[in-house]
Amino acid sequence: MTSGPLVIAVDGPAAAGKGTLSRRLADRLGLAYLDTGLLYRAVGRRVLTAGGDPSDAAAATAAAAAIGVADLDHPDLRDERVTDAASKVAAVPEVRAALLAFQRSFAAAPPPGAAGVVMDGRDIGTVVCPDAGVKIFVTASPEERAQRRHKELLGRGTASIYARVLADVIARDQRDSEREAAPLKRAADAFVLDTTALDADEALAAALRHIEAVTGGDPCR
Ligand code: CDP
Repeated sequence: MTSGPLVIAVDGPAAAGKGTLSRRLADRLGLAYLDTGLLYRAVGRRVLTAGGDPSDAAAATAAAAAIGVADLDHPDLRDERVTDAASKVAAVPEVRAALLAFQRSFAAAPPPGAAGVVMDGRDIGTVVCPDAGVKIFVTASPEERAQRRHKELLGRGTASIYARVLADVIARDQRDSEREAAPLKRAADAFVLDTTALDADEALAAALRHIEAVTGGDPCR
């Protein structure tokens, strides 16, 4: 493992439970948390708000150059149309390049009081932080992931149809895996955590066991 702040990279396909796991790991271990998907969502939202097409590289690049902290704080960032726009702008190499420096500086210099960071996304262990001390690839069957996202949407009072959520999850996985720029793929040295049959507590316990094995005890000592 390299010296410097501990970096835990959590990657995986859409709605695999990366956010829940990462937040709980950060809480448990006293680490800062960065949801990198939120950055792509903010860029996608900005393009939509300006009336642009998220697949248009010039519009997406201009939006990425303009985002600031205030863009990360909108309740509609998790809406379906923003989610879809996020995975379209995420395929634009200039957008990814614009967001890379911010993600790397967060990893290198966590906020005061944090001994390191947990970052979740698609390319944290492969591109953003290839030297991360811990890499976890969280996955689950598409049906289970769609079921969870469907329940989450209903829980937020958003209308949702399971078959449509499943189709969206599959389409987004395909777009994220097949793009040329930093596609979704497991880092060769990542621990695969299949949560299809695990609840959130069991997934957390499995991740903690792995982290302990890799770091040889309390990773934040
Ligand atoms: O939570 P969920 O898995 O549904 O999505 P997210 O992590 O918020 O990511 C939204 C979209 O942003 C993904 O479909 C990816 O296209 C893109 N993304 C990315 O390309 N790279 C990242 N590091 C994080 C997100």
